[in-house]
Amino acid sequence: MDQSDLTKVSARSWQLSERARKLTSSAIREILKVTERPEVISFTGGLPAPSTFPTERMRAASDRILRDAPAAALQYSATEGYLPLREWIAARHSGPGAHGNVRIRPTQVLITTGSQQALDLLGKVLVCPQSPVLVETPTYLGALQSFSLYEPRYVQVPTDDAGLIPSALTPDLTAGARLLYAQPNFQNPTGRRLAVERRRALAAFAQQAPFPVIEDDPYGALDYRGEPLPTMLSMAPDHIVHLGSFSKVLAPGLRVGYIIAPEELHFKLVQAKQATDLHTPSFTQRIVHEVVKDGFLDTHVPTIRALYRDQCAAMLAALARYMPEGVTWNEPEGGMFVWVQVPAAIDTMRLLEEAIAQHVAFVPGAPFFANEAQHNTLRLSFVTVPPEKIDAGIAKLAALVRARI
Ligand SMILES: Cc1ncc(COP(=O)(O)O)c(C=O)c1O
Repeated sequence: MDQSDLTKVSARSWQLSERARKLTSSAIREILKVTERPEVISFTGGLPAPSTFPTERMRAASDRILRDAPAAALQYSATEGYLPLREWIAARHSGPGAHGNVRIRPTQVLITTGSQQALDLLGKVLVCPQSPVLVETPTYLGALQSFSLYEPRYVQVPTDDAGLIPSALTPDLTAGARLLYAQPNFQNPTGRRLAVERRRALAAFAQQAPFPVIEDDPYGALDYRGEPLPTMLSMAPDHIVHLGSFSKVLAPGLRVGYIIAPEELHFKLVQAKQATDLHTPSFTQRIVHEVVKDGFLDTHVPTIRALYRDQCAAMLAALARYMPEGVTWNEPEGGMFVWVQVPAAIDTMRLLEEAIAQHVAFVPGAPFFANEAQHNTLRLSFVTVPPEKIDAGIAKLAALVRARI
């Protein structure tokens, strides 16, 4: 729809719901539109590098599925998801855990249309207008977008360089909460990883809290050393709601993710999903299963890790080379993001306007805060930019920061 069509729509006197009137567009998606121009060095998107998509495997898997099970692959299917994929996911999350042998049941697994849908479904079944929702400071802006449709009152949980601070979860802070949303691995936007002791503390908290702790984990496999920390799910399998995704380890266009939840909540999520989209596409679920079932991820994921580790190293080296004193950033051990703090007087929304004029782009930090924002922060993604361009882009950005100090 072009701009003139939009004008026609808004000229109508249709009444939108209160909810729809409060909707805002994702700042990242709006910025991405500008940065799609080829001359722009864009550190904006959380898009995986397309070179990592296993295209040939997908093609072969699709051929086999259409040859061997065309009717089932193209037919409506169960809301819960394709059973062999649910079984594969349950098995993947089962095994020796921090507190003995963990067994996740396939009946706990719901396949979702990306983990973004999982966030929406959780909002739908858990959140009422004005109910408190606990989020990290800062947090994934797409989660804020999803939950906001259900009109919560956000409560920011304090964090430090090691992530969410469990001891901050006092009765005063958590009173009446409907959920706590956390990302323990290479958090979007900060790239932080939650230490094992804090995971234990949060899992223990979940065991006595009257609301679920959501563990959103799309980046867990992408730790550069290949030494993943135990999930909170493995520490409290009946109290943690775990979200997973094939977007960052296979391809996001498939739109296949999942929720592992205790059966009582699972049942409600299934009902909510039925009303939303009946089920995640039968065909893409089968493609994912066909591709992963024989251990493909065990060889594929290390190639993604190696690529991102090198790109990350290039970005950290460029930041160290060019950024003036007073600018700080974290050194992620995995994932796709570096989080940068510039001197307090610089508003990164304004900085972005100048940066785009210089053909370099980043995501300002403010939209990642549920309430009070830190305007001197920004997120850099390094995964889709080759090292020489990373260097050139950071040099330009550093010059703009320097000019404002
Ligand atoms: C923290 C987090 N959760 C969820 C998602 C949604 O991922 P998808 O819907 O592709 O599984 C993203 C995407 O970037 C993310 O960063």
